[in-house]
Amino acid sequence: MCGIVAAASSNNIVPVLVEGLKRLEYRGYDSAGLAVIGSAGIERVRSVGRVAELESESAGTQAITGIAHTRWATHGIPSERNAHPHVSGSIAVVHNGIIENYETLRRELTAQGYVFTSDTDTESIAHLIQATLKTEPDLFKAVRIACQRLVGAYAIAVIDHTQPGKVIVAREGSPLLLGVSEPGKSTGNYAASDASALLQVTRNMVYLENGDIAELTASKVKITRLDGSPVERAIHVSELSAAAVELGNYQHYMQKEIFEQPEALANTLEIVGGSKSIQPGIFGAEAANLLADVDSILILACGTSSHSGYTARYWLEALAGVPCNVEIASEYRYRTSVANPRQLIVAISQSGETADTLAALRHAKALGQSKTLAICNVPESAIVRECTLRFITRAGPEIGVASTKAFTTQLAALFVLTLVMAKLRGKLSAEQEASYINELRHLPVAVNKVLSLENEIKTWAQRFADKHHALFLGRGMYYPIAMEGALKLKEISYIHAEAYPAGELKHGPLALVDADMPVISIAPNDRLLDKLKSNLKEVQARGGELYVFADQDSEIADSEGVHLLRLPEHYGQLSPILHVIPLQLLSYHVALVKGTDVDKPRNLAKSVTVE
Ligand code: G6P
Repeated sequence: MCGIVAAASSNNIVPVLVEGLKRLEYRGYDSAGLAVIGSAGIERVRSVGRVAELESESAGTQAITGIAHTRWATHGIPSERNAHPHVSGSIAVVHNGIIENYETLRRELTAQGYVFTSDTDTESIAHLIQATLKTEPDLFKAVRIACQRLVGAYAIAVIDHTQPGKVIVAREGSPLLLGVSEPGKSTGNYAASDASALLQVTRNMVYLENGDIAELTASKVKITRLDGSPVERAIHVSELSAAAVELGNYQHYMQKEIFEQPEALANTLEIVGGSKSIQPGIFGAEAANLLADVDSILILACGTSSHSGYTARYWLEALAGVPCNVEIASEYRYRTSVANPRQLIVAISQSGETADTLAALRHAKALGQSKTLAICNVPESAIVRECTLRFITRAGPEIGVASTKAFTTQLAALFVLTLVMAKLRGKLSAEQEASYINELRHLPVAVNKVLSLENEIKTWAQRFADKHHALFLGRGMYYPIAMEGALKLKEISYIHAEAYPAGELKHGPLALVDADMPVISIAPNDRLLDKLKSNLKEVQARGGELYVFADQDSEIADSEGVHLLRLPEHYGQLSPILHVIPLQLLSYHVALVKGTDVDKPRNLAKSVTVE
């Protein structure tokens, strides 16, 4: 989704802006631009395509104050005229989010004589601020007043060439943080959509709250609320290392992130691995009391995060005996539902900023559902801050748009939640608890072994490249894993893929099966294996080509039209975490064969901060 970088410094900030945008590329974008305060006024460069193009077009530009942006089109097609920054007279604005009343503003401002040159909602912010400057000449105050008229979600950064040396930023609903001067290292103050853009200059981050507005100069930062009242916001020293967002020896971030899973899981489970028992306190100080009274669970999430929820539902009901539902956040937030104050709301999100998940969480709270838990990879994110309980997955920054290590660490967190709930409900013996802790402890090693299947999967990938459709089958807790496999293939290789519970095959999708429709099946050695084998026979009988991911001991054999790959070990309840890995590798290698942009698939964004 759109990314913002802004800087006020005593040195040339153009390289900082460009480097910052490169760090935000992973969020997904279709055009990029920057504006700086030059000697003769605002100097603006915009381009459709990669930040690298913007970099060459802005080579030679020098300035000490500027703003920059990667745009993911919402209002108006990707084009240079719609790319940010948008300019009105002396000012330039970049914006992330959606202004819902932009048509009203556009009509009003057009009537006042402002000429719109783009189709964006953002341009109305630029003209609104310019119009406000007529009665309130101070830029900070004018932006503050203008923001009060905006309805919707925004993070903005504004410069004015008649008031050089300062950048005004404001946030309501879209992510924005400040990077403040680090003595001896940086000589300036900065703002960006996420910390990774600013690690190049500072580790000192200030997370703005909704309704905050800040003025940055090279030497000072002033923050107030939109009504003008001053506020103090704490400085957090980011623990992200610059190396964590480097590609290193890998070809793509997705590949790096797939191979980081053993470490990501080890870090996430560190809190459990060292102890002999699992305590509710892992989820926060209030967890023991709050969870003891829970009578059911509702999981809210989007995309890959929802698939971890669907998987966990099988664990929570089977092992902890707690009724669990999973709902896509964008559906739940607009549905009339029956509130249950004893229900635990679990919001799952890698980024913690997904607009629909955040809105669904707020909707639940507004209905009186006050028991809330965030499972999230970003500790300072909005979703974490708005939940009572939290479990921070420690996957490290995930840059590839297609989520991998965030997914498996979410599953690990949800398994820990299952154990806590089972224990609180008297459904976990000390023996079982010790045995599950042991399995969790060895999970990174088990994942590592699965990663060694990569070469065989590469061979399979060659056979998929000319296919237009694929079917993924799973049963029980492997059905959501099949859903995740299908999503991965769609996202990065653009092959249409669908997941079905294998038992549902004969109720429709079997009609599609022929030699051109590969069928990928997850066949762990569990009590449903025999049933699954019958489903696979149905596919074989229709001339379908089967690709089966089985366990070492699954009684299933290679035969005509059946390609078989065995995972090194069966891992009981935790097996879904192992079985998703070959599916991640398969989609990655199919995308490589097809030559798609693996880390930045077309039309998609990493962090979907608009509805
Ligand atoms: C986007 C990303 C997906 C992600 C989903 C939910 O669609 O491309 O990879 O699963 O958002 O994101 P979240 O940050 O809430 O997990």
